[in-house]
Amino acid sequence: MSDLQPTLQRKQNDWEWEWNNYDGEDEWLFHDWILPNTLEDFRGKRVLDAGCGGGQHLSILARVAREAVGVDLNASEIAVKRNANAANVSVVEGDIATVSFPEPFDVVTCIGVIHHTDDPDKTFTNLARLTKPGGKTIVWTYSHEGNFLNRTLVEGSKKILISHLPKPVMRAISIVLTALIYLPVYTIYLLPLRFLPYYEYFENWRKLTWSTNELNVFDKLNAPTTHFTTKARITNWYANNGYHDVVITPYRGVSWRGTGVKT
Ligand SMILES: C[S@@+](CC[C@H](N)C(=O)[O-])C[C@H]1O[C@@H](n2cnc3c(N)ncnc32)[C@H](O)[C@@H]1O
Repeated sequence: MSDLQPTLQRKQNDWEWEWNNYDGEDEWLFHDWILPNTLEDFRGKRVLDAGCGGGQHLSILARVAREAVGVDLNASEIAVKRNANAANVSVVEGDIATVSFPEPFDVVTCIGVIHHTDDPDKTFTNLARLTKPGGKTIVWTYSHEGNFLNRTLVEGSKKILISHLPKPVMRAISIVLTALIYLPVYTIYLLPLRFLPYYEYFENWRKLTWSTNELNVFDKLNAPTTHFTTKARITNWYANNGYHDVVITPYRGVSWRGTGVKT
């Protein structure tokens, strides 16, 4: 564990606190994030979940995959414990921008992670290397488009103050912010005013549990590094790394879903 760069060590601590203090999100979000793929696309396959966090997606994948391997900067106990009864799941520690495996995988998923790596372009190239010809690479990433307030207000206040606060204080702030956001979400955002910022995103808030929404707020405050991906950038990831049947779709106005078959 100790050959990781010092900056990565710092990230490990941030994320570890998060996985140890939250139970994970509503499962249907995972199914939305992998569209147009479905769980059937993983049946009988050898799958890598790049940036597996608390291991929640591994436990979904394990129901159908032949083998599901999770890799994260921090092979947190919670990811291991959550999947302790699944004989086809393993979790290893590593940086997804550089990690190697003896054999490439049938499917590589990278859900909500590539934008937190130091160099997303380099990370995608490594994900492509870890995907075997004919296999799929599935990515879900925050978009540059539709995220003006996140890129300016949230990221700005993190730099100045929030990222320096102890985690329990950050958690208290995220609870208050979540409660405050519920007010417009259940009033003005119920009106057909689709021009409002985050309109589609807040439609999801009304379907998600409080704990998932609060986790999402905390996650945004806690993430030590966040890059917002333009459509051109995610398109280039697939174009420059040898893929066909590429499908890139927006999700809820704040993120991109990408999938492609390695040539
Ligand atoms: C927002 S979480 C997403 C976790 C999981 N994929 C999910 O959707 O629940 C981001 C995760 O990416 C991991 N991560 C960030 N940079 C990484 C890197 N360079 N290599 C491996 N994991 C990384 C963090 O440790 C953290 O667990």
